[in-house]
Amino acid sequence: MHQDYIKPDNWSIIEEGFDRDSVKSSESLFSLGNGRMGQRANFEESYSGETFQGSYIAGIYYPDKTKVGWWKNGYPEYFAKVLNAPNWIGIDIEINGENLDLNTCVSVDNFRRELNMKEGWYHRSFEAKLQNGTEISVNVCRFLSMELDESGCIHYEITPKNTDAKIVFKPYLDAGVHNEDANWEEKFWEPLGASHSGNEAFVTARTFKTHFTVTTFMHNAILLDGNAQAIDAERSSINNEKIVFGYAVAAAKGQTASIQKIGGYTASLNHTDTVLAAKDVIKSARAKGYETLLEEQAEAWAHIWEMSDITIDGDVKAQQGIRFNIFQLNQTYSGKDSRLNIGPKGFTGEKYGGSTYWDTEAYCIPFYMATKDQHVARNLLTYRYNQLDKAIENAAKLGFTNGAALYPMVTMNGEECHNEWEITFEEIHRNGAIAFAIYNYHRFTGDYSYIPEKGLEVLIGIARFWHQRATFSADKNQYVILGVTGPNEYENNVNNNWYTNYLAKWCIDYASQQIEKVKADFPADFARIMGKTKLDDVEILHWRKVADHMYFPFSEKFGVFLQQDGFLDKELVKVHDLDKSQRPINQKWSWDRILRSPYIKQADVLQGFYFFEDHFSMEQLEKHFDFYEPFTVHESSLSPCVHSIQAAVLGKMDMAYTFYLRTSRLDLDDYNKEVEEGCHITSMAGTWMSIVEGFGGMRVKDDVLHFTPRIPKEWKGYSFKINFRNQILKISVGANETKFSLEGDREVTVVVNGKAVSVEPNSLVTV
Ligand code: BGC
Repeated sequence: MHQDYIKPDNWSIIEEGFDRDSVKSSESLFSLGNGRMGQRANFEESYSGETFQGSYIAGIYYPDKTKVGWWKNGYPEYFAKVLNAPNWIGIDIEINGENLDLNTCVSVDNFRRELNMKEGWYHRSFEAKLQNGTEISVNVCRFLSMELDESGCIHYEITPKNTDAKIVFKPYLDAGVHNEDANWEEKFWEPLGASHSGNEAFVTARTFKTHFTVTTFMHNAILLDGNAQAIDAERSSINNEKIVFGYAVAAAKGQTASIQKIGGYTASLNHTDTVLAAKDVIKSARAKGYETLLEEQAEAWAHIWEMSDITIDGDVKAQQGIRFNIFQLNQTYSGKDSRLNIGPKGFTGEKYGGSTYWDTEAYCIPFYMATKDQHVARNLLTYRYNQLDKAIENAAKLGFTNGAALYPMVTMNGEECHNEWEITFEEIHRNGAIAFAIYNYHRFTGDYSYIPEKGLEVLIGIARFWHQRATFSADKNQYVILGVTGPNEYENNVNNNWYTNYLAKWCIDYASQQIEKVKADFPADFARIMGKTKLDDVEILHWRKVADHMYFPFSEKFGVFLQQDGFLDKELVKVHDLDKSQRPINQKWSWDRILRSPYIKQADVLQGFYFFEDHFSMEQLEKHFDFYEPFTVHESSLSPCVHSIQAAVLGKMDMAYTFYLRTSRLDLDDYNKEVEEGCHITSMAGTWMSIVEGFGGMRVKDDVLHFTPRIPKEWKGYSFKINFRNQILKISVGANETKFSLEGDREVTVVVNGKAVSVEPNSLVTV
């Protein structure tokens, strides 16, 4: 497995040279997505080497029966799998009777992949010599349309170099796919039938159990030297799950034969007759044609970049890193559909199952809030509102009552589907992040309407949960929270994880405040919500007792809050005194040894300091950072970004920059040696935060944007844009000055390094 083989470039991800060992990693890195579907960068033609085939459709999943050694009451029935969908990109190719397969060619030269992030397409080219002596050159371009988001296009061209060639293109659809990630090796798709006419074909399949019906479709056109050829396809339905067409083209030496394939999915999530819908999609795509679709693709991406680009001057690797992160986030979630969410691997792999973790609320929402229209972040909040009943059911399964809500650690449809007890039952801090996101949304957008309309019900369910989950300790005369796992998953079943306790208290405080506000300002909503939740003042008084008497473990000796009651009993050897050969500890050590160690997987106490920075002084932050970071191994992709932000706040710029590179190039440089499993999509939003909140120092305080710009010495300058309450503010930071400009119609006052600065529309202000 190779690391760091991607060529530095401002706008593209580039690989040069064919290396069998990096095929699976590149399949992840060059993945395509358009929010509706996505796919790994598998070769279109057959490949007998090591590959991980994967195509995914947003919102389509499979409830794979839970597999555990010993069943415990309360375990979820299933783990939702991100479902490998039927393959429509496949085009087998026969050249003078031989099947093209890069693994068996005599030679492969000038192999190059480019993922053009600016325009949203993926290109691959190579020259190959087949065993039969035919030499060819190949160019393939592929994209998933942002405009017609149920379709994608492939243009595959072959030029025989040393002889005439009979080329047979064999485009196919195949629903006989399996998941890499499956508990019982079961089949997830039931084929319902295949049909074809002319140059188009349809394969319809339904998921077992969840009964999602999906029609996978294709339309093909053949060209010779750019001219359309009327070639009849030899059509064969292999069975009811696979259709293959065959187009034979005689290409003289030097002539270019090509196939243009339109393909994609229509799903019962969006259509009643999926075959009819597929025909419509083909019709619309053909009416535009390949070239127009490609132009529209570039325009759609130009529009996205216009708002979300971050430029970095003088550091091409950092520039490529941040654009890769922004590109992937936009490929994964477009915000068009509130039923969808952002899976940790997006459309690039299957690990982690499900699509929604606390990652969305804790890490992703700030990115979508600031770079999109505000309804996108609102859709993400609404997703949880729509799943509130399931969260209440989920809590009830664990014995909670009275409408207490426990949101799942992982979900597709609101049901919990993580099945390790120490996570499912114990990693309950996730509930707090969901409440925090509501607060954060209001703080940033100023849109309070979400709270009386939807958010307050969620806050009440969550407050009820914390009230019931806390235990009164007669010994301490305070409330404690026992048996939890904090964000640091390298400790389980601990008591009084400070982050969890702090969040629990905050959730109750915040919910109580919002109840008062809605009561005063939105009486009709208040009456509706009280009627529905049957909440009364007495119950709120009980909550308040818990919040007002919550216990927080603290060490007088070190002057820091303790990650959990027993943290100081550990052997406190710092990470830098740990032999390098022992890392990553999650690959080198037994779980037992990890649990007893002081090593922290990701920000835990510091996650609390990140959320609630304004509750603490700089001195407190520094003390906690200096105490906990040295024990942190950053073995979660979510870790470096929070530390980068805090290091920047504390003026530790070298550290901030190192953490930044680690988060932004985590996948490109394959720091964790696992990129072949897929990219770390949710932490990519953390990368964006490290620039905007870390280096840029952006905060919203009392409806005003604040900045404390800092710049790593490796950079000449950087810039980003923020959609703040429907006005677009551009911030350009240089070594000695920061420039602000505004696209909008109202003056905006921002606070820069503590001083108020007025920015007028269409003028440049230099600070
Ligand atoms: C992290 C969790 C995270 C999950 C999905 C885990 O490794 O510890 O905090 O939610 O990955 O990204």
